Amino acid sequence: MERRPRLRVGLIGAGTIATSAHLPALTRLRDRLELVAVADVRLEAAEATAARFGGTATADYRTLLARPDVDLVVVATPEFLHAEQTIAAAEAGKHVLCEKPMAASVTEADAMLDACRRAGVKLMIGHSRRFTPRYRAVRAAIDRGDVGEVRLVRENERRPTAMYTALAGWSGYWTPDGEGDERPWTTRAAYTYGAALTNAVHEMDLLRWFVGADAVSIYATSRVTDPTAEVPDFITCSVRFANGALGAAEVVNRLPPGYPIAHMLEVFGTAGVVRATDTTMSSLSVTGQGGTTHPANWSTLLHVPAAYEDQLRSFADAVRDDAPVPLHPWEARQALAMSLAAVRSSAEGRAVRLDEGARSDAGAGPRTLGPGDSPEGRDGGGQRPGRRTETSE
Ligand SMILES: NC(=O)c1ccc[n+]([C@@H]2O[C@H](COP(=O)([O-])OP(=O)(O)OC[C@H]3O[C@@H](n4cnc5c(N)ncnc54)[C@H](O)[C@@H]3O)[C@@H](O)[C@H]2O)c1
Repeated sequence: MERRPRLRVGLIGAGTIATSAHLPALTRLRDRLELVAVADVRLEAAEATAARFGGTATADYRTLLARPDVDLVVVATPEFLHAEQTIAAAEAGKHVLCEKPMAASVTEADAMLDACRRAGVKLMIGHSRRFTPRYRAVRAAIDRGDVGEVRLVRENERRPTAMYTALAGWSGYWTPDGEGDERPWTTRAAYTYGAALTNAVHEMDLLRWFVGADAVSIYATSRVTDPTAEVPDFITCSVRFANGALGAAEVVNRLPPGYPIAHMLEVFGTAGVVRATDTTMSSLSVTGQGGTTHPANWSTLLHVPAAYEDQLRSFADAVRDDAPVPLHPWEARQALAMSLAAVRSSAEGRAVRLDEGARSDAGAGPRTLGPGDSPEGRDGGGQRPGRRTETSE
């Protein structure tokens, strides 16, 4: 059989998710992919990552994008950089697998879709849970008609403050202001809206996927419980969908000591219910003085290496075969619109309709939002206006 050349990958952002999930997946896909370049503003992180996984290091992602031997890039930086870096990559002719949330505003997400369509490059957003066996099994049960017509989907996520501290070799989140202010970007209003985007965009995407319709309105409440943080770490969202179904999501990022990481999903329909939880599906639980842990959950259920591998493999194959990407970026754009509506709802204490226009962008927030993000006249997350055919796929 003819051996096809490997796709050459550039990584932008050598932080937690890149080194714990994307690059191990890439290593397992070495028949298809080769890491040739790593860019990170922290040059030492880029160098350490290149030494471990391959390629050469740079502090400037534009140097990476200027290389003709990079076919596709993985963008794994904080969300406020996704639009800038994805658009620059598209303009350099690179295909892009960008981490969730797609961007910091719907306006930015639309600009990403436009840039990739114009450049004729593929774009996919890493909503990794779409690639987990667990949630695929849930979708398959719905497709088989096991639950009948879906009426309510609940998805809850409960995590310790810094879930990733459990990872071997974890070096911490990026602290933008370095020495003098060691607070990570995940807690800072200048860089993120907090749990609505860092976590709940997963819940928004899953609710929408399992309900099979776009959201009409969201009511959300959130709070900041971490005294050092500026953005919410608790959020609850109540969603009404266009087909009448309801959705509910809860994210708790600061669990009491000893409480296990737990994800819980329920899909209620006219004919049945699907339920998936970390604890009842766990193949291993260990209870000690520090509480209960479910090591198998970490590695085999939700944060599954196989999901990142499948995500990267199927994106790479779409690039190589010039086929549609397995998860259209419009899906991520809609999940983002829901999350931003939740941010606005929580801030304004009212239900926010998705057709309010880009006012469902959350408003003043992460620092890349600029004059071009004026809310007037943009569609901030309404129904898919037939744009799907206009995008990069
Ligand atoms: N799919 C998932 O389940 C999942 C899980 C965790 C994180 N994420 C997403 O991945 C993204 C990164 O999160 P993380 O947890 O890895 O954060 P992190 O802070 O660990 O890593 C971010 C990296 O980006 C680098 N960086 C900052 N500015 C840069 C720039 N201008 N150019 C190049 N590099 C730059 C930082 O130095 C850091 O190494 C976020 O969008 C986050 O929401 C997704």
